[in-house]
Amino acid sequence: ESNQFCDAGISYGDSACGISSSSSSKILIKGGTVVNAHQQEIADVYIEDGIIVAVKPSIKVSDDVTVLDATGKFVMPGGIDPHTHLGMEFMGTQSVDDFFSGQAAALAGGTTMHIDFVIPVNGSLSAGLEAYKDKAKKSCMDYGFHMAITKWDEIVSREMEIMVKEQGINSFKFFMAYKGALMINDELLLEGLKKCKSLGALAMVHAENGDAVFEGQKKMIELGITGPEGHALSRPPVLEGEATARAIRLAGFVNTPLYVVHVMSTDAMEEIARARKSGQRVIGEPVVSGLVLDDSGIWDPDFTTAAKYVMSPPIRASGHDKALQAALSTGILQLVGTDHCVFNSTQKAFGIDDFRKIPNGVNGIEERMHLVWDTMVESGQISVTDYVRLTSTECARIFNIYPRKGAILAGSDADIIIFNPSSSFEITTRSHHSRSDTNVFEGKRGKGKVEVTIAGGRVLWNNGELNVVPGSGKFIKMPPYSYLFGGIDKADAKYLSSLQAPVKRSKAAT
Ligand code: URP
Ligand code: ZN
Ligand code: ZN
Ligand code: ZN
Repeated sequence: ESNQFCDAGISYGDSACGISSSSSSKILIKGGTVVNAHQQEIADVYIEDGIIVAVKPSIKVSDDVTVLDATGKFVMPGGIDPHTHLGMEFMGTQSVDDFFSGQAAALAGGTTMHIDFVIPVNGSLSAGLEAYKDKAKKSCMDYGFHMAITKWDEIVSREMEIMVKEQGINSFKFFMAYKGALMINDELLLEGLKKCKSLGALAMVHAENGDAVFEGQKKMIELGITGPEGHALSRPPVLEGEATARAIRLAGFVNTPLYVVHVMSTDAMEEIARARKSGQRVIGEPVVSGLVLDDSGIWDPDFTTAAKYVMSPPIRASGHDKALQAALSTGILQLVGTDHCVFNSTQKAFGIDDFRKIPNGVNGIEERMHLVWDTMVESGQISVTDYVRLTSTECARIFNIYPRKGAILAGSDADIIIFNPSSSFEITTRSHHSRSDTNVFEGKRGKGKVEVTIAGGRVLWNNGELNVVPGSGKFIKMPPYSYLFGGIDKADAKYLSSLQAPVKRSKAAT
């Protein structure tokens, strides 16, 4: 095989590998248990031209239809990963999974859509968007964009409006860390929150106190702690808790919904719990690395091994993982992402003498569906319908593309997985589809296996064989004013009218 993807078991659609595209435009999935977030039932699913046409028992079809038997298996909406960084330029290098290899890996793991973060170019949103449109040309599955805000002026403010009204972006991310690079201050965060609110766009935060992290890093270097463990020691949970609390309070002050990305610690999770209990609209997103790993990896004596676990916020000490799982199972946290942002060992080695230079990021886009199943469903913490909600439906609702995505309903996009709960999975660098030369979940095994992935109505993953076509993925426009904004205007009106009741004061004596 001549092309580089074939060696990883990936074939290019009808070409290169001699494996023809087996997918007709008509597919019947027979006899499975169809699971949506609201219910599950034994039913057939009939698909035509990329769209689900019918979901009901005993559908009869003509013989030009591809029939997949799902008896004894779950038929579920494809996963939607709300948090990825494919081909991201970061810390002087670029993440190695691009929009083709990262998506191929996603499909092999049962994820059929992801939302990536556009990074502005010198603060310019439109230049950033152009760059990401270019990166995404090789897409083999559907994707959407969030956009980061890294500086503030009139132009950025106007560009945000254009992104929402013309470009199909409905969320903006503010980095409270990465001082000297992506970090913003409270003044900018406040401007951004107000602007988001005025557009019906969701504000997202990377919540760590970047100034304090900078201090923590200096302290570790002064103490001679230059290895990967210095990364974890320099940015403890208290700094994540502080920034999470600050962002939540500022969003509460502005009265706009807030989405906290990669919730890694009990400290941050408890701030979200408290805010939700008081009635504030805060969404918390744990990522799979934070749910299933602890900090033992970063203390490994081998640099290459330790460095692969370096991400921000850091993977925490044992205990935080279990607390995040519990929060997910009880609705304190609402959906699971990955923050998939992978660097090879040679890139991680930029920081061999100084942990501050290790590019931050770990994998997860291919592993998320299996690990969440094993950790949450197989362990008895959540139901199968909850699994669908956490891995797909809730993401579609938050980013306002439900029920086109995130559901198996007539009229929805045909993004579907067939999941065999009796089978098993094992994660290894040898067998994964990412370009990364390491895997933070190396050696993990568990129950359940994504046997078939259908995206856009085509069978792209079938029993270990990937069949993906660069350029076949579509950009999914995400409209503003998701359900999170419902009623915000009423609360504002009530507050304003309370201010207009004049305070009566008696005239001061002269
Ligand atoms: O370490 C991480 N998380 N890298 C990706 C960028 C970010 O902060 O999400
Ligand atoms: Zn091949
Ligand atoms: Zn982040
Ligand atoms: Zn991220």
